[in-house]
Amino acid sequence: MDEKRYRELFSRYKPGQGFDELKWTIERVEALKPQVIIEIGVKTGGSLKFWEQILPKGGVLIGIDPENFVLWDIKRSDRQIHFVQGKSQDPETVTKVAEILDGRRADFIFVDGDHRRALDDFVLYEPFLREGGGIAFHDFRNLGVFHLLWRNLPWKKEVTLLGESTAFAWKTEHVNLKELTRKSINREILSRTKYSWLAKTRSGKIIAEIDVETGKLNMLKHLNPKDIHVFRWVPLDPSLPNHTLFLNEGQELIAERTFKIRDGEIKIMYLCGWRSGNQVLRYVIDNYGNAFVEEKDL
Ligand SMILES: C[S@@+](CC[C@H](N)C(=O)[O-])C[C@H]1O[C@@H](n2cnc3c(N)ncnc32)[C@H](O)[C@@H]1O
Repeated sequence: MDEKRYRELFSRYKPGQGFDELKWTIERVEALKPQVIIEIGVKTGGSLKFWEQILPKGGVLIGIDPENFVLWDIKRSDRQIHFVQGKSQDPETVTKVAEILDGRRADFIFVDGDHRRALDDFVLYEPFLREGGGIAFHDFRNLGVFHLLWRNLPWKKEVTLLGESTAFAWKTEHVNLKELTRKSINREILSRTKYSWLAKTRSGKIIAEIDVETGKLNMLKHLNPKDIHVFRWVPLDPSLPNHTLFLNEGQELIAERTFKIRDGEIKIMYLCGWRSGNQVLRYVIDNYGNAFVEEKDL
């Protein structure tokens, strides 16, 4: 897009990205020679106008937003523009997008909707992206847990700190994003603790720790979990309390870890449990160092 046209469109349609930041993004989108583009978060249709202009006549453009504020008439475009009203993470929205695409795949996806849910958008819409296609995330600095996945993503990636910052990735290889997310978050949780699990026998020997990659309990000595008498959790952050749990006779350690994400933050850091009769008791420690026990029948 030549400079004059770019300036004209920028002042008329007022996209959400900064002037140089959008230009940086557009250079990369144009190089993909796109036929199909998806935008998550349309607002008044500022950036949508640029994607329309980059597409050839007859090209497909899908915009997703729960609110329809678009200030220009998308029906009069000579590109095929589809506005899907709804939250990008809702299954009905994903289904509608799949129906419109009808087996075609996107050359470019622009993610600029609910920034706290950029990670969900990535996992949900990446299957629609063709091999070699590009995906950009606006406001990159403020995407919460999305960064955990981004750090470990083995694709070609670039970030610009112009404007509000934008990240651009090219789908250079097949990746199971759900699996990568799970691993990335597990690694993050463990990196925040000084020790993973430390389990000791009654005589004080350390016999078990958590494997950083798999999250499984590793027995350092060939001892029965029934012999474990105590385990403790020592957070890296010294302002959080240590937690030590003593097991009584007949209680068997089972180790498990989980996490929950709310508002883009990891809330539950650790969860382990022990078996007692036909009950599993779970010991949960959250980000704030609160510990509590949940009981569940087997
Ligand atoms: C930053 S604005 C988008 C600006 C636009 N891309 C531009 O540059 O001109 C964010 C938009 O995301 C929409 N939004 C909020 N939650 C959303 C969701 N869950 N799914 C899709 N869009 C969402 C908002 O309604 C808002 O219009």
